[in-house]
Amino acid sequence: MKKILKWIGIILGIVLILAAGGAAFISIRGIPKYEAKNIEMKVDVTPERVANGQRIASMLCIQCHAADDGALTGKLLKDVPKEFGAIYSKNITSHKEKGIGNWTDGQLYYLLRTGLRPNGQYLPPYMPKFPLVADEDLKDIIAWLRSDSPALAPSDQEAPESEPSFLTKFLCAVAFKPLPFPDKPIMRPDTNDAVALGKYIVDGQIACFACHSKDFKTMNVLEPTKSEGYCGGGNPLLNMEGAVVPSANITFDETGIAGYTEQQFIDAVKYCKKRDGTILRYPMVPHTGLTDTEVKGIYAYLKTIPHIKNKVQ
Ligand code: HEC
Ligand code: HEC
Repeated sequence: MKKILKWIGIILGIVLILAAGGAAFISIRGIPKYEAKNIEMKVDVTPERVANGQRIASMLCIQCHAADDGALTGKLLKDVPKEFGAIYSKNITSHKEKGIGNWTDGQLYYLLRTGLRPNGQYLPPYMPKFPLVADEDLKDIIAWLRSDSPALAPSDQEAPESEPSFLTKFLCAVAFKPLPFPDKPIMRPDTNDAVALGKYIVDGQIACFACHSKDFKTMNVLEPTKSEGYCGGGNPLLNMEGAVVPSANITFDETGIAGYTEQQFIDAVKYCKKRDGTILRYPMVPHTGLTDTEVKGIYAYLKTIPHIKNKVQ
């Protein structure tokens, strides 16, 4: 008996030493690096591309990267849960050293798809990836990044380096990985097909599903409909004060948006106006960049997906 206890003690000791060694390694190594591929790409900066890119970026990038003065120089993201550390977005102005002025179009495209910087450093999930955005929409965003929009004028303002916590580093070692670079073209949907257009916006372009499913931890970014509680709400999101604002159930269940007319839905999505006249809270933001046709497409698409019973408080 004593012998067995002794051996258990020794084994436990070894396990503890290994665990401490692993923790020290993860803590010192930080966020892992991978091999970043070089993508040959030249995006034409046409007025059409810039206008569409700006429209999409206003719903997808600006909120996180804009400093108080509106310049896209990065800032502390107060709505990232504290457990992940102190996280700052980056300067993405056209400044050659402090911004992305020296990046190639291919490097930007590769980062937005996979989450890898040109040096192979991986960007944890607090910088989203865009695996299902159509090739042409992504190129339009890059054209906008290259444009003479005042918010992108070269600025040497720098947000501090992020300080990811041990938890973030640990999760990046075991769970969070770069996304695969798509092996075939991703096309825009047929805009005459309302349901297809809506699905593209919900799953791909704006990724409404990410906030509106059960939890970021159980979402499936490559196959959104396989996310737990797809569009059924309840994801415990944070506002700028760090208080929880759960996302709404946007399936056509009685506990969701079953009673919404198309116009009430447009008012909610585009202007954050709730049916009872109150305003939807951050992090839901007005999506004025979407056309009525697009929001009607979202409405039509949400009608086709399974209803989820989930009364969000
Ligand atoms: C939810 C907030 C959020 C959104 C939305 C977001 N970003 Fe970021 N982005 C970040 C954070 C945070 C980092 C820095 C992460 C770090 O410190 O590791 C970052 C980093 C980057 C970088 C790397 C810069 C560098 O110097 O390494 C680029 C480029 C970038 N973002 C562009 C974009 C574009 C373009 C969009 C829209 C299509 C976008 N981001 C949307 C939060 C966001
Ligand atoms: C950053 C996270 C986030 C994104 C992205 C997002 N939402 Fe929301 N949405 C929320 C939150 C949080 C609420 C609840 C706000 C409240 O309770 O005041 C909400 C509320 C709503 C409501 C109101 C439902 C009700 O019960 O009144 C609708 C409709 C909606 N969102 C649709 C969308 C659509 C469509 C998209 C994509 C175009 C989208 N949302 C993108 C976070 C988000």
